[in-house]
Amino acid sequence: MNIKQEVDKRKTFAIISHPDAGKTTMTERLLMFGQLIREAGTVKGKKSGKFATSDWMEIEKQRGISVTSSVMNFPYKDYKVNILDTPGHEDFSEDTYRTLTAVDSVVMIIDATKGIEAQTIKLFKVCKMRGIPIFTFINKLDREGRDPLSLLEQIEEVLEIETYPMNWPAGMGKRFLGIFDRYHDQFIKFNGQEEETYLPLEELRQGSNEALTNHPTYQETEEELMLLNEAGDDFNFDKVLRGEQTPVFFGSALAPFGVESFFDTFIEMAPNPKARRTTEGLISPDNETFSGFIFKIQANMNPQHRDRVAFLRVCSGKFERGMTVTLPRTGKTIKLNQTQEFVASSRGTVDEAYPGDIIGIYDPGVYRIGDTLLEGKASFQYDELPQFPPELFKRVTAKNVMKSKQFKKGIEQLVQEGAIQLFTTYPMENYIIGAVGELQYQVFEHRMKYEYNVDVVLESIGERIPRWLTNDKVDSSLFDERNMLVKDREGQFLVLFKNQFALNWFKDKHDDIELIDLFEVN
Ligand code: G4P
Repeated sequence: MNIKQEVDKRKTFAIISHPDAGKTTMTERLLMFGQLIREAGTVKGKKSGKFATSDWMEIEKQRGISVTSSVMNFPYKDYKVNILDTPGHEDFSEDTYRTLTAVDSVVMIIDATKGIEAQTIKLFKVCKMRGIPIFTFINKLDREGRDPLSLLEQIEEVLEIETYPMNWPAGMGKRFLGIFDRYHDQFIKFNGQEEETYLPLEELRQGSNEALTNHPTYQETEEELMLLNEAGDDFNFDKVLRGEQTPVFFGSALAPFGVESFFDTFIEMAPNPKARRTTEGLISPDNETFSGFIFKIQANMNPQHRDRVAFLRVCSGKFERGMTVTLPRTGKTIKLNQTQEFVASSRGTVDEAYPGDIIGIYDPGVYRIGDTLLEGKASFQYDELPQFPPELFKRVTAKNVMKSKQFKKGIEQLVQEGAIQLFTTYPMENYIIGAVGELQYQVFEHRMKYEYNVDVVLESIGERIPRWLTNDKVDSSLFDERNMLVKDREGQFLVLFKNQFALNWFKDKHDDIELIDLFEVN
């Protein structure tokens, strides 16, 4: 089979949501479609299990799939589906953001009873910035939720994206009758648990089911729909592909209701792998040269071996196990023998892979996040992965000062791996670590102890707002604990402001000092 045919079958996406909106429940449903699991409720390990920070392996064991099996793939109809997990809760880390650089589309799940929540906004911004097509599933219709129109308004206002409801709910909670599937001109009737009936609207209009069509909720919804048809935006697939319009589906992942029709429509519409930007222009996925980039490095995935696995997104050509590739950053060649494919409950060996697929490659410590791997003589590199704004900052020291050499080495390597971001205070040169989630610190602490044999002391300095200074010469007397002056890895000065108030106050007082927000997402 040629590469183009394989590319056309690939659908690689992530599900983003705020914790508890229903991401796991939805993932389980999709895995059931792919027949990877038979019963719902098998994906999640212990959800709220407390873990000892000293044992990273225990963390993995207890979290089960949410940490280790972060990529799932299965065939569905004529497609090959790759779902990438975006860890949330206290697992939220830069990996969560970086995962979004490796997908071709995103499903955003919103809880109908709560509307848009904080974590969804953060993840959404990354998608928007990268122009990733976003499909919205408004979940928990079996509960009394917010009014559908106000939910759409909220998406449009808060996320600044046009919406197009692909279906429209008739009632919610106890009054829930079903959904008008606008896209397929049918009514999907809710018959309680695990049952739905598809009724073509044409037939309903001709009186095929008067018990339903005379129902007050049905009639009210039909009127709403007429208004929507007149006043709402038109469906525009080009806009969807540019990430400017989001098709919205209502349903319930738990019931389940509307999930199959959502997935069938989504899987047809979701884009397959497209050309990606490199230092030598766009590289098309059906280019014969194998290429890909590393978007995540995970340590200790297998408790038996203290190994690291680099997650590689295949971008062009065909991957074959045992092939020799080049790492253009160093010019070195590497034979890729040990590879893994990720499935829901186990990790098998992957012999071949195509654009859109994610493979795990054994990392003896040579890779960095953002690295390109290539076949043959080519030497292009994929665009650098964006840096994401850390929000939590901690001062870090070695418990035992005699270990400062290992301490520095460990920190240096973990920074290179992209596990943490490092800043040094000025002029005292203390280390400050920035991360987007608490888990990053736990993993950092554990790895420093077990891989570099150093006990670290972490002291929180809270959430901070980083702003860069343009001037090389700065008056350090203007800064203190509240507005902390630090340098980044490149030696650039920046200030970690305590909060928005401190930032505004500083700006008012020193309007001659230019403050730059370097992160693309904020
Ligand atoms: P997450 O991965 O996004 O954090 O959410 P998850 O799927 O774990 O769902 C969070 C809670 O919401 C779970 O209940 C789940 O059963 C429930 N839920 C998911 N989809 C729906 C839906 O369509 N309707 C309703 N009514 N509930 C839904 P829980 O009680 O917190 O956990 P569990 O013990 O049932 O797993």
